[in-house]
Amino acid sequence: VAQVSASAHAKVILLGEHAVVYGGPAVALPVHSLTLTASVTRTDRPLWIDSVLYRGPVAAAPAQLNAPVTAITATLAALGAPHAGLAVRIDGEIPAERGLGSSAAVAAAISAAVARSCGVELDEQALFALVQTAERVAHGNPSGLDARSVVSETAMWFRAGQVRRLGSTFGGVFVIADTGQTGGTRGAVADVAALKAAEPARIGGILARIDAHTTAAARDLAADDRVSLGRRMAETHELLRALTVSSPQLDHLVAAAHAAGALGAKLTGGGRGGCLLALADTDADATRVAAALRAAGAERTWLLHPGDLAA
Ligand code: PMV
Repeated sequence: VAQVSASAHAKVILLGEHAVVYGGPAVALPVHSLTLTASVTRTDRPLWIDSVLYRGPVAAAPAQLNAPVTAITATLAALGAPHAGLAVRIDGEIPAERGLGSSAAVAAAISAAVARSCGVELDEQALFALVQTAERVAHGNPSGLDARSVVSETAMWFRAGQVRRLGSTFGGVFVIADTGQTGGTRGAVADVAALKAAEPARIGGILARIDAHTTAAARDLAADDRVSLGRRMAETHELLRALTVSSPQLDHLVAAAHAAGALGAKLTGGGRGGCLLALADTDADATRVAAALRAAGAERTWLLHPGDLAA
C-alpha cells in the first residue's frame, strides 16, 4: 500500500484564552506557515512511530509521546483496525509548548492519516473527538479550541465546542513572537480554576470582561477596525495578567511591541511563557514590530497577513 499522509497547521488565539474554559467565546487564527504532516506506511513490524523525539515501537515510546501515541491507538480502536503493521512518521515543525497548538496539530494529522491508511476519511466531528481524546492526555481538560482550530482553514469563532468560520476582509497584519520559554497551559488553567473558586466574584468579573472583548473583536475583524481590535488586545493582556497567567518575559515583549508601534499586543494561548500576538496596521509596521521584538529577546517571529486568514 502506498504511503498516505495528512497535515494540520499551527494556530494562535486572537482573544478568549482561559475564558473559553468557562464557556466563553474565543477567536483563533490559522498559521499556515507552520504545518505538520503525518505519513503512514504498512510494515511488517509492530506498530511503529518515527519522529524527531523518538523512533521505535509505539509500545516503548517515551511519556512525552503519550498524546500522539493516544491519537494512533484511539484512531485504530475507533475504526476497529488491528494494532500492528503500521509505521507513523511525523514531519514538520510547530514549536511545542508555545501555545501554537502543536499537540492538537500532531494528533489531528496522525488521526486523519491513520484513518486514511485504513481507507476511511474522518468527518470533522469524528476527527474532533479523536483529537480531544489525545488532548486530554496532553492537557487534562481542554476546551476543544485547539482541536478545532488546527484543522480550520480560516479565522474561526469558537464557543462551547461549536465553531463558525469568520470570513475575512481584515487588512491588519499580525506578528507572532516566541518568548523562547515553554508555556505552562496545564498549570495556568489549574491556577485560574483555584483563583475562581477562592474569589468567584472578582475572577468572574475579569472573565466576563474578556468575553465582552472577544465578542466585540469578531465585529472589529469584520469591520476591519484595526485600532479597536488592537485596543481590545492590549486590554485583554491586562486582564490575563490579573488572572496571573502572564510572565515577566511576556510583559516585557508586550511593552516592546507597543513601543515599536503595534496597535495592540497580548500573550496568546495558555501563557506563563510561549508566544505573544501583536497587531500592526501595515506590512511595514509589522516588519518593524517583529524586528523590535527580536531585539527585545524574542527567539523567533512570524507574520500573519490578511490573505492567510481566508480560505
Ligand atoms: O496553550 P494553548 O495554545 O494550548 O491554549 C490554551 C488555551 C486555554 O484557553 C488556556 C485552555 C483551553 O483548553 O482552551
